[in-house]
Amino acid sequence: MNRSSNSGPSVQVTTDSGTSLDAFARDVDRGLSAAQKHIPCVYFYDYPGSQIFERICRLPEYYLTKAETEILQANSGEICSSLPENVLLVELGSGSCFKTQVIIAELLKHQAHVAYSPIDISKQMLEESSNSLQERFDSLEVVPVVAEYTEGLHQLRTRPEQAKLILWLGSSIGNLTHAEATRFLEKIVKVLSAQDQFLIGFDLQKDRRTLEEAYNDSQGVTAEFNRNLLSRINRELGGKFDLSRFEHSAVYNEEHSRIEMYLISTCEQEAYIARLDRAYRFHKDERIHTENSTKYALDAIQDMADQAGLQICRQWFDSRRYFSLTLFYIAEY
Ligand code: TRP
Repeated sequence: MNRSSNSGPSVQVTTDSGTSLDAFARDVDRGLSAAQKHIPCVYFYDYPGSQIFERICRLPEYYLTKAETEILQANSGEICSSLPENVLLVELGSGSCFKTQVIIAELLKHQAHVAYSPIDISKQMLEESSNSLQERFDSLEVVPVVAEYTEGLHQLRTRPEQAKLILWLGSSIGNLTHAEATRFLEKIVKVLSAQDQFLIGFDLQKDRRTLEEAYNDSQGVTAEFNRNLLSRINRELGGKFDLSRFEHSAVYNEEHSRIEMYLISTCEQEAYIARLDRAYRFHKDERIHTENSTKYALDAIQDMADQAGLQICRQWFDSRRYFSLTLFYIAEY
């Protein structure tokens, strides 16, 4: 996959709102000063983090990517069948764009030209994936935007005359709280028009064991991904975290239907962060909350759609019913 920058076409990447070091420092300080320590999950996805995440997607235990890819491969014809001509594809948190290729290939069977706008926070990831897509698909117009997707929304306002298919895959929606997710969907609905459609991946409720294994893989890749938050603080903010003194933990909280991810301090310790000129204390067994990953019941998806003003158009599942892709359009009143 690694291509040198001078081979093949080069796509111009637009920077929207690169996450600044000041914002990162402020969020870390706020999170580590709170009673329940936490670090916002958006900081997972710098370039090293995005690369570790790609390895997570290939793990045998991480069924999500396989299930979602299975659904896309089996149903891309149908997913694309109700789209108007000349649709603009927009993807929130595109990462490696691996799964999207199935949709792009399908669209290119029916139309000569497809425009695709991936939105992601890692500029380097976006550059690599955009270039490799451009190499694979000659007639694809790639318009990448570096942005946190909650801020990259105005991208959806461009080309108002063109119908859009918005992709939000990987069950990333589950990393927001119910209130955050609904608010975000509402915001998107405001900028969409009646001709637009929205395809969202939802990971579904299932047995605890399958869930916990997916987030506690035997090779320790997820642990490495989780600890990358601390390495990133060390790299970018002059942090002095000793990574070997924090353990990865992922447990299923049945009451809230979500996997909760933590980094647990294995001893009483202090970590200094130069950019903040402050040290943070951790008790033995104190937890830093790093992520939630909600697992949905079908009626929870329906509720969220109702609240946000979206209507479910179609819903697809993988053969084990582990995962769902749901196609929405704007509800008409
Ligand atoms: N959206 C992914 C998910 O909820 C993100 C993810 C996978 C993740 N594994 C992780 C986030 C481990 C933090 C730690 O499945």
